[in-house]
Amino acid sequence: CWPRTSDKNFKTVSVNAWVEESEGEPGLVLGLRGEPYWLLPGKSGGIRNFALRAECTHLGCIAPWNEVQQKFVCPCHGSQYDPDGTVLRGPAPHSLALAHVEVVDKGNVRLSA
Ligand code: FES
Repeated sequence: CWPRTSDKNFKTVSVNAWVEESEGEPGLVLGLRGEPYWLLPGKSGGIRNFALRAECTHLGCIAPWNEVQQKFVCPCHGSQYDPDGTVLRGPAPHSLALAHVEVVDKGNVRLSA
């Protein structure tokens, strides 16, 4: 039967490089099927317990973080998302999708969508 309960539905991701170099900005990692997610710095250090799917919900361009505007801004057609991934400006029809982030140890998190 499907889905099989033994199927792995998470990916363990090393965050060492991001923690050392991010300077408080989101870090791009790849999920279980290669899908890109933004890891988010916690407000008082650490990592937030959710990650945002990096692909714009309009046509799928990667929407990078804009530090000056404090938003994710899609370079393709100008959609904007707040730091939680909520869509602020279209043409994107939806907010960014979420994945759950669980800290495994100092250098690794577990990402599950
Ligand atoms: Fe992002 Fe069109 S793909 S606004």
